[in-house]
Amino acid sequence: MKKSIGIVGCGAIGGFIAKAIDKELKPFAKIAALCDIDNNRAMNLRELLSKKPPIVSLNRLIDKSDLVIEAASGKFSSEIAKKALLEKRDVMLMSIGGLLGKSKSLFELAEKKKAKIILPSGAICGLDGIKSAGIGRITKITLTTRKPPKGLRGAPYIIANKIDLDAISDECVLFEGTAKAAVRAFPKNINVSALLSIAGIGAKKTTVKIVTSPEYTANTHEVEVEGDFGRLVTRTENVPSPQNAKTSFLAQLSAVATLKQYLNDSVKIGT
Ligand SMILES: NC(=O)c1ccc[n+]([C@@H]2O[C@H](COP(=O)([O-])OP(=O)(O)OC[C@H]3O[C@@H](n4cnc5c(N)ncnc54)[C@H](O)[C@@H]3O)[C@@H](O)[C@H]2O)c1
Repeated sequence: MKKSIGIVGCGAIGGFIAKAIDKELKPFAKIAALCDIDNNRAMNLRELLSKKPPIVSLNRLIDKSDLVIEAASGKFSSEIAKKALLEKRDVMLMSIGGLLGKSKSLFELAEKKKAKIILPSGAICGLDGIKSAGIGRITKITLTTRKPPKGLRGAPYIIANKIDLDAISDECVLFEGTAKAAVRAFPKNINVSALLSIAGIGAKKTTVKIVTSPEYTANTHEVEVEGDFGRLVTRTENVPSPQNAKTSFLAQLSAVATLKQYLNDSVKIGT
């Protein structure tokens, strides 16, 4: 039977997922409903779909769905997850930053309600290895994010430390600290740092480095992990989503790949 999917957030990621369900995932799923705080965005997305789903409130969407997909905002992701889980709905979350400090209670709720929480790997690579490594002991996880200076403009850390990004002429490390501190200092890096922390050794033990240079043209995430298994390093050079420059195209692709696995799990590849 086709799964009914409700999409909360009709922007770059939500829209990409909706179009995939409307086309290649059609044999397995249908869009039960759309929801967005900006009704125009939901209406614009509906116009692009061959089957026109209803635009409804969050509560109504949860009611109509087997799986609720959140692609909205870190400010609301944990609340959306909680509401869906309480109604025994599976939930896939993209705004992982909103789960920091709340993931444990949500994971417990999912277990109690026999529902699933699904967290796609988004804009980074290496979670497969981290999950395997975590069966043994992981001693260190470091995320090094490289961004051009303009990609860091407006970050609370840059403002608080009065860093003149235009005066930077060479590659330099702007920040090094725990993932917990990094998500406050550079909230736009929040999803990647949060997901690594949740999958690995927690936000207090995960180290984040933010590096910039006027020479950089892409947003690059390097993950380095050490443990009983040895050492792994991954490097992801992301191109931005055509619909939202702040979102990596890989995050959109990851959402659809994860959904595909959820809908048809007869073959599982990796970890
Ligand atoms: N996990 C990852 O690697 C990763 C990568 C990129 C983006 N993200 C996160 O995914 C989310 C979606 O990203 P995007 O690029 O599609 O953003 P977007 O800005 O293109 O779209 C977000 C949409 O959600 C809507 N929205 C905001 N709050 C809402 C709410 N409470 N209820 C309903 N709708 C709401 C907005 O009006 C907008 O239409 C963001 O929170 C972003 O930080 C995660």
